[in-house]
Amino acid sequence: MNDKQVGQFFDQLSEDYTAVIERCFPRYREMLWALLDYLPSDRAFTAIVELGCGTGNLSVLLAEAFPEATIRFVDVSSDSLAVCRSRLGDADRLAFERQDFRELNYASGSIDLAISSIAVHHLTSTEKRQLFRQVFDWLSPGGAFCFADQFRGATDALYARHMHHWRELSMTAGSSDDEWNMWMEHQREHDHHDLLADQLGWLAECGFTEVDCVWRYLLWAVVQARKSSVR
Ligand SMILES: C[S@@+](CC[C@H](N)C(=O)[O-])C[C@H]1O[C@@H](n2cnc3c(N)ncnc32)[C@H](O)[C@@H]1O
Repeated sequence: MNDKQVGQFFDQLSEDYTAVIERCFPRYREMLWALLDYLPSDRAFTAIVELGCGTGNLSVLLAEAFPEATIRFVDVSSDSLAVCRSRLGDADRLAFERQDFRELNYASGSIDLAISSIAVHHLTSTEKRQLFRQVFDWLSPGGAFCFADQFRGATDALYARHMHHWRELSMTAGSSDDEWNMWMEHQREHDHHDLLADQLGWLAECGFTEVDCVWRYLLWAVVQARKSSVR
């Protein structure tokens, strides 16, 4: 992936992002709800990082859900990050980091929760596996990695059916051919949809436990994994 181009694509979209995503991604809000609702509740999360925060649709919910936590919002698109910051305001506990999340270098055990919504699929399979290893290292014992994203179908036929339904649903929700073509061009150039089963396996290989998919609709799924608190 060329992160500069991904950043530029989302820079250009930053002002209209929320309206566009709500038209084009069916059940987007429900997916964000599932991502937060299923977070483990058996421990406190005081140090949180959001990977690919964009303009902050998840970020505002996260900041509300964890009013005491230190939260780092990371994105490669400076314009999206600026919108995110303007929605959240400045507070000592909130940090806005213009960074490629493949290059983050947090200390081992320094993060309690790593969370992300529709951003990880910009990485290739190899890069995803590398990110999963990194996240595992950052997490404190009992920490969690939870992300919503787009995934392939188990067969090409299922994947094609997902794509067909996605197009139909976004058109019904008011999207246009131009908008659809914009996403498809972006997808061809920058998106890497891997299988959900593969990604659950890669997480387990890194040492994550309690690896599961807690919500799924067409291409979209919410994945959750824990770093065991037993060392
Ligand atoms: C589809 S948007 C999702 C934004 C937001 N999380 C949401 O749920 O609406 C993907 C975001 O991930 C960011 N992104 C993609 N690859 C990235 C990378 N390697 N490092 C940092 N940010 C990245 C993009 O700039 C973009 O803002």
